[in-house]
Amino acid sequence: MRITAPDLTPEQAYKLMRGIVVPRPIAWISSLGPGGKVNLAPFSCFTFVSNAPPMVGVNIGRKAGQHKDTARNILAHGHFVVNIGDETLLDAMHASAEEHPPEVSEAELLGLDVIACQAIDTPRLAAAPVSMECRLHSVTPYGDTGAEFFVGEVLVFHIRDGLARDGKIDTEQLRPVCRIGGPNYASLGPIVTKRAIRQTPKSVLRDTQP
Ligand SMILES: Cc1cc2nc3c(=O)[nH]c(=O)nc-3n(C[C@H](O)[C@H](O)[C@H](O)COP(=O)(O)O)c2cc1C
Repeated sequence: MRITAPDLTPEQAYKLMRGIVVPRPIAWISSLGPGGKVNLAPFSCFTFVSNAPPMVGVNIGRKAGQHKDTARNILAHGHFVVNIGDETLLDAMHASAEEHPPEVSEAELLGLDVIACQAIDTPRLAAAPVSMECRLHSVTPYGDTGAEFFVGEVLVFHIRDGLARDGKIDTEQLRPVCRIGGPNYASLGPIVTKRAIRQTPKSVLRDTQP
């Protein structure tokens, strides 16, 4: 089967791509809404884009051409938190994608406690095993739908005690969930370990240029 991309409607292309780019990790973003309400929503077009400084990025689409609450809140305040949910939080994470008016806090609605952050005013989720306090770095639009790629610089990592050893996350203990097509999720299957391949140590450009 061959599909010529320009023949697809936006909906058809979305359906295809959400099943091809899998599995996707999920950024469970808390942001500050009107009146200080904590907005919460999941975003699976999520990756990390830099390690010095650490930066993460999410693609946020539009609702009928309008910014989603998360995008509007990030643009208004310049900061947000990427929380990482685990298997025990999947139901709440899924439910937090329901559309509500901006002044409704999904965190309150779902009975999820939040805690003050260290470097930013947006609170983080108490139950999340990992949370990253982010300062907005850049917003880049892509394509015709108004979707924008939001990049945040991570200022503080919060990692549940016992989850990191020698500076590395114990992935089995983290029990992350990922999104596959539509309302479908998967958890980690068996972890397969291969021989380590030597990589050139990470550096910053100023140290490598003459
Ligand atoms: C698991 C999951 C992943 C999602 N990923 C994205 C995404 O990457 N980008 C996006 O724009 N919407 C995504 N959505 C939809 C948003 O969560 C949804 O539009 C939500 O209502 C946005 O909330 P807000 O208006 O409070 O920001 C996802 C939904 C689910 C359930």
